[in-house]
Amino acid sequence: MCGIIAVIQNKGQVAPFLHQALKRLEYRGYDSVGITTIEKDHLFTKKDKGKIDEVHRKHNLDNLPGSIGIGHTRWATHGIPSLFNSHPHFDCDEKIAVVHNGVIDNFLELRKELAKRGHEFGSDTDTEVIPHLIEEKMKEGNTLKEAIKYATGKIEGTYAIVAMSTLESDKIVCTRNGNPLVIGRKDNTSYVSSDIPAFLPMTNNMILLLDGEIATLTTNEVVIEKLSDGAIVERDTIKISWTADQAQKGGFPHFMLKEIHEQPDAIKQTLRIRTEVFEGPAKIIEASKRVMLLAMGTSGHSAMAGRHMIASNSGIVPSFELASDFQDVMYDSITTDDCVIAITQSGETTDTITSVKYAKELGAQVIAITNVVGSSITRIADYTIITQAGPEIGVAATKTLMVQLTALAQLSIAIGERTEFRTKEYLKDRKQNLEEIPQKIARIIAIEEEKARRLANIYHNRPSFLFLGRGISIATAFEGALKLKEISYNHAEGYSAGESKHGPIALVEQDYPVIFIAPKDNTHGKVIGNIMEMKARGANIISVIEENDTDLMELSDQTFQIPAGIYHEFSPMAYVVPLQLFSYYMARRNGYDPDKPRNLAKSVTVL
Ligand code: G6P
Repeated sequence: MCGIIAVIQNKGQVAPFLHQALKRLEYRGYDSVGITTIEKDHLFTKKDKGKIDEVHRKHNLDNLPGSIGIGHTRWATHGIPSLFNSHPHFDCDEKIAVVHNGVIDNFLELRKELAKRGHEFGSDTDTEVIPHLIEEKMKEGNTLKEAIKYATGKIEGTYAIVAMSTLESDKIVCTRNGNPLVIGRKDNTSYVSSDIPAFLPMTNNMILLLDGEIATLTTNEVVIEKLSDGAIVERDTIKISWTADQAQKGGFPHFMLKEIHEQPDAIKQTLRIRTEVFEGPAKIIEASKRVMLLAMGTSGHSAMAGRHMIASNSGIVPSFELASDFQDVMYDSITTDDCVIAITQSGETTDTITSVKYAKELGAQVIAITNVVGSSITRIADYTIITQAGPEIGVAATKTLMVQLTALAQLSIAIGERTEFRTKEYLKDRKQNLEEIPQKIARIIAIEEEKARRLANIYHNRPSFLFLGRGISIATAFEGALKLKEISYNHAEGYSAGESKHGPIALVEQDYPVIFIAPKDNTHGKVIGNIMEMKARGANIISVIEENDTDLMELSDQTFQIPAGIYHEFSPMAYVVPLQLFSYYMARRNGYDPDKPRNLAKSVTVL
């Protein structure tokens, strides 16, 4: 939700880099975009409503002078997407420029107070109070840093703020509370951004900035101090393993397609995580009275599948709750005997972070599964498992789902080794099966991609779809439906096939498309029954089946076929792949950009 980038370098024009960096952050929001630079004590700005390419075509974002600048790509919360609401925002004298990601809860009150004192506002945003607060303090003779400190004392809410001023044009100052900011350093240049890929082509030397800290970036150095007492924080530089190439399309028309193709490799990388990493979490889980999986969106579907993996391999049956509703269903019943497994690819989703903090306050142990080193969740969790998808740019999660499922599979085996619910041989065999999955997924992509494209041509204008599965395949059905609705905008509902006769079947009429996820596991016979019920009402059946499942081939109008020999608890990893491809080609056939679905953002940092 909103992407921020700022750069200070000792010479040369910074705007072209800011423009490209914003492109790499566009997955965080694409309602509007803006860049401000400083040259000879003047601010220069280009900003407007629209996607970056549109705004660039209109205004040439590269054509701004100066070697210090800030940029922002917006996902609107307060104020419609418009030129005036686009960031950066300014003080009355246009000497201070600010970009912000987050929500200022008390902005109305602050705005009224500031207006009474004569400040004029040019936007409807919550952000704009910040430059005006800074302005007041700087006018009293304070430095930019002191003025920002003052502003953070006045505002309530969540924020990542980056500011610069013509009055101190040799620095960029930033601070955060609940929204991400990472700092990059190379030679005579300092960077700060919402996410690593923004500056990855220039440096993989990253410095974390934590909540409650303020950083001053100059060309020579980065100085971090605590907001509370001004104490200097010594923080090591982390070298991250992601490469700039990973954040490029690499010949694919969209990031989403590239990321689908990267899944076999992402699983392989995640399978290389040392087994000791799973031992601490497994020990906690085994010792806990209650184990609760928490997540949102696609990560929620990983959690649903993970529940089955853990149950099947260890005999411990965790619960799954949407992080957004966790507090409301727990009724403060959490104790020190509980354990929470939070799954979040970004490590920043506010619903998930808030619930995890709540669980921790009440004494629960927290295990996090995330793809981002140094993200907020890693600093809250007792144990963190870092998945190895590399950067995922497409807004619709694909390869991060795959690595979450991989990590959950590994975790389920590690717990099983402790509980001895299954024999050693059984679990060894599971490990072996998991190792074979990347190659099977590569085969699915090679064979089924063309079919996905063909089926998209047939089904693209159907207004509504049902996705049905039983047992662990409910998670796959939910994910298939989510992918389709989020990027192709066809209405799609994921449902338990068992439950479908209690409601969704009423939707079914002649040729209504119903997609069944039907691996040859213990649910197979019952799924056939559900297919018959749907067929009896005229449904058009598309099934994802094990290859050469002749019964289902006969019953289905169309099939996607998955190689045999995948154990049932790992089946979502393979069975979801044709559904990802189907959604991708549906979006394209319907004329939408699969990488940038409307109204969505990759990292949702509001409640
Ligand atoms: C957004 C993204 C989804 C993602 C969800 C949870 O809705 O568009 O792709 O699954 O957030 O994100 P997280 O980072 O917590 O996995």
